[in-house]
Amino acid sequence: MLELLNINKTFNAGTVDEKRLFSDFCLKLNEGEFVAVIGSNGSGKTTMLNIISGSMAADSGSVLLDGTEISGMKAFKRAMRIGRVFQDPALGTCPSMTIWENMSIADNKGKSFGLSFGLNRARKDFYRSRLEILGMGLEDRLDTTAGTLSGGQRQALALIMATLVRPDLLLLDEHTAALDPKAADIVMQLTDKIVSEKKITSLMVTHNLRYAVEYGTRTIMMHDGGIVLDSAGEERANKGIDDYLKIFNEISIETGN
Ligand SMILES: Nc1ncnc2c1ncn2[C@@H]1O[C@H](COP(=O)(O)OP(=O)(O)O)[C@@H](O)[C@H]1O
Ligand SMILES: [Mg+2]
Repeated sequence: MLELLNINKTFNAGTVDEKRLFSDFCLKLNEGEFVAVIGSNGSGKTTMLNIISGSMAADSGSVLLDGTEISGMKAFKRAMRIGRVFQDPALGTCPSMTIWENMSIADNKGKSFGLSFGLNRARKDFYRSRLEILGMGLEDRLDTTAGTLSGGQRQALALIMATLVRPDLLLLDEHTAALDPKAADIVMQLTDKIVSEKKITSLMVTHNLRYAVEYGTRTIMMHDGGIVLDSAGEERANKGIDDYLKIFNEISIETGN
């Protein structure tokens, strides 16, 4: 359903800081896959998500969504089909708006109606029902501004917002990394619940190897702009944290860092 074909990306081309990240990078995701992406800092995980979402352009190559070339499509247009949750809880929700207003904006994604469109009883009940699955009591706090919520609550809300209108593809960029371990686990479980319930094809970058082992259907490890491991099915089920750590160590010995 998603295909990255021969993606090339060089930063600061022609300067002393030139950095060639992707050389003919390819990745194919099948419908319904929940892919955990791991890899050292600077391996290109965020850049890959940026190229998919359109917040950054590749130098060349194709991005196909359900067979349609979207590389030339503006990020805001792609956002109608691609949901995204970032590491920073402040990026997924608007702090000065209430939970209710935030959800209304997410609900009206891609539509040209204003906020008032969402302001009716049935919508409010629907938002409450979505918030209830979080088990955080947010359904009774619709008039609370998002900025006053804890980091975990904001990420949970951001997740609900990114999936309120079911996206074809969900991109998660270390969305639990800024949370304390307990909140991170709660948001990870919620992610799994929403992704499974709505059967959303998802690409989840995570720093947490346990999540990459316990959640999802496929694991990809990136290093230096390339995919060094791609595992699914039974082979993946037999892999534990130690196996991934071993590969990380081998890579760092090979590259001397
Ligand atoms: N806007 C940018 N300008 C210059 N270099 C960048 C930029 N974005 C990313 N890079 C470089 O590309 C590499 C990959 O970055 P990134 O995709 O953020 O890695 P990751 O998310 O895996 O940690 C890094 O070496 C980083 O310095
Ligand atoms: Mg990153």
